Amino acid sequence: MELDKLKVIVTGGASGLGEHFAKQLLAAGAQVVVGDVNEEGLAALPEGIHRRRLNVADQDEIASFVPWAAKQMGGLNALINNAGIIRDGLWVGKSRKTGEIRRMSRQDWDLVIAINLTGAALMVQEVVAHMIERDEPGVIVNISSIARHGNRGQSNYVAAKAALAANTRTWMKEFAPYGIRVAAVAPGATETSMTANMNQKALDMIKASVPLGRMGQPEDIWRAVKFIFDCDYFTGETIDVHGGAAL
Ligand SMILES: NC(=O)c1ccc[n+]([C@@H]2O[C@H](COP(=O)([O-])OP(=O)(O)OC[C@H]3O[C@@H](n4cnc5c(N)ncnc54)[C@H](O)[C@@H]3O)[C@@H](O)[C@H]2O)c1
Repeated sequence: MELDKLKVIVTGGASGLGEHFAKQLLAAGAQVVVGDVNEEGLAALPEGIHRRRLNVADQDEIASFVPWAAKQMGGLNALINNAGIIRDGLWVGKSRKTGEIRRMSRQDWDLVIAINLTGAALMVQEVVAHMIERDEPGVIVNISSIARHGNRGQSNYVAAKAALAANTRTWMKEFAPYGIRVAAVAPGATETSMTANMNQKALDMIKASVPLGRMGQPEDIWRAVKFIFDCDYFTGETIDVHGGAAL
């Protein structure tokens, strides 16, 4: 689908990757709606991007957001399911200092699953219901992560991002008869506010582990998202974009 034909919702588009996607889509002539819990970030988006507060962990908010977004754009034929958070920690381990056994809290597990997995799945459900009801073909792009292959200290995030990639294939099969494509992009470590909060030692270790010798930039990830929009024969797959740093 040509970018200027897109009427697209970007979740989590008030910063980082989502903000970059929204700006690139706007520049390409697409109609764009951003939903995010970060109201300051929403307010700072360029004119021309429709925006409204959205907590993807809240099903009622999704139910009112999607028709509102479609109304702003005069239709709806695409979604970038991008909102996400991390709450890292070992699932269970022994503290080197105190010998204490530590576990990832149930709260950190539940929150990451609620936003990164359940929220994303509910967005797909609502957006696709809207498309099917109106007989409108479309494209869904899920933002997974290379952590989907398994990553120390990220059990909650891995569970969410792996399930999102697996269901990309499930949903591809369910929605293909309606002319709706579903694909995913799984970025490696990319410079955004998510990684800016990591300590320098961890960042240096990440950089050292990337064969191409640098972290990703939002533009690197956008190229893969753009390919998915562009190629009408591409569906069901998750594209890992990581500079060679496969987990
Ligand atoms: N940056 C990386 O290295 C990296 C790597 C792999 C995958 N990802 C994924 O890319 C996506 C974007 O991350 P980013 O790096 O741009 O981080 P980011 O923190 O800059 O952006 C995430 C956005 O999601 C929003 N958000 C958080 N909870 C929300 C909720 N409940 N409802 C709606 N919006 C919510 C935040 O306010 C923020 O604007 C995430 O899904 C993330 O898991 C990032």
